[in-house]
Amino acid sequence: MVAELDPVDRLLLDELGEVPAGRVVVLGDETGALARALVERAGASTLQDPRVLQGWAGAGEQVVAHSDSLVAERQVAQALAGAAGGGEVVPDLAEALTGAALVVLRLPKSLDALDEIARTAALLGTDDVRLVAGGRVKHMTPSMNEVLGASFEQVHASLGRQKSRVLHAAGPRTVEQVWPRQRHHADVDLTIHAHGAAFAGTRIDAGTRLLLGQLDRLSGTDGTVVDLGCGTGVLASVLARRFDDVVAIDVSAAAVASAQLTTAGAADVRRGDGLTDLADASVATIVSNPPFHVGTAKDSTPTLALIADAKRVLRPGGELVLVYNSHLPYLPRLREVGPTEILARDRSYLVTRTVRA
Ligand SMILES: C[S@@+](CC[C@H](N)C(=O)[O-])C[C@H]1O[C@@H](n2cnc3c(N)ncnc32)[C@H](O)[C@@H]1O
Repeated sequence: MVAELDPVDRLLLDELGEVPAGRVVVLGDETGALARALVERAGASTLQDPRVLQGWAGAGEQVVAHSDSLVAERQVAQALAGAAGGGEVVPDLAEALTGAALVVLRLPKSLDALDEIARTAALLGTDDVRLVAGGRVKHMTPSMNEVLGASFEQVHASLGRQKSRVLHAAGPRTVEQVWPRQRHHADVDLTIHAHGAAFAGTRIDAGTRLLLGQLDRLSGTDGTVVDLGCGTGVLASVLARRFDDVVAIDVSAAAVASAQLTTAGAADVRRGDGLTDLADASVATIVSNPPFHVGTAKDSTPTLALIADAKRVLRPGGELVLVYNSHLPYLPRLREVGPTEILARDRSYLVTRTVRA
């Protein structure tokens, strides 16, 4: 079943304006409802359906969708599979934006992610590419207009409706591509590469830093070592100095592309949803600074599910080493996996080691 359009989707569709003949790119759709509605409009206008022709230039629109999260990408692919008129899911952001005439996007929560989208659209889109970007008013800031203004001559906001608003950007500027960014950290002798949507950018997160200091306490058994939710690949890179078989997994396309650059071939970087692709009792060690957000909301449910699945994929005696904010309710669940000790703590974070019983 395809999800319903939400108020942001509906406002975006109402604010599209003239749709040019050419590539229409849908970014950040989490459910597939927006991409499907666009595909159906494009397909219907191609069939000269008078009810939907208004605003569409006619034959030739091609709708492609890119969502950073693999979970969202799968939802969009499923929604498009049943849509008359086709539509294609493209896992690479730059590839999706190449030749874009119109970009319809759900605003990302990070300004860096928005900057990468805007620059890439200005560079790789058509000469008159436009962006129509929607979000919930409570998640929007004036800085978003500034970010869009760095890549487009004209930026203006729609009137709000149902707590939602749309930003319009037109007139692509001649911009420099600055993504992925890179920064060398002499203290860990590592150059971090980061696409805009990757967690912590080229910084080392405080929790990750606390965990880095504990990695030499891993028991060093043979076997696969997994960096789960690898982000830009900081932990995987350091683990690969000591272990031969390091697998880095992240659900985010931006994270995977970043970690591939940061690890420079030293780890096997994969886009995946948690540990689902790994076989039972196949892993010696899992290291993770796990997610604490779902979209813009703080949510510990996904990490509780990851902890439960760690029990399945770890072999007996295998280790699960986590860093997390100390107020989060993970300890009782970790103890269901096996005996758990606290390796380190500071004012905000705990590093725990759990040995699979
Ligand atoms: C707190 S960040 C840590 C990133 C990185 N390990 C670091 O230390 O900088 C959590 C990461 O988990 C990823 N993530 C979220 N949900 C996931 C899932 N279901 N499967 C795999 N990775 C996920 C996010 O994209 C993000 O990169």
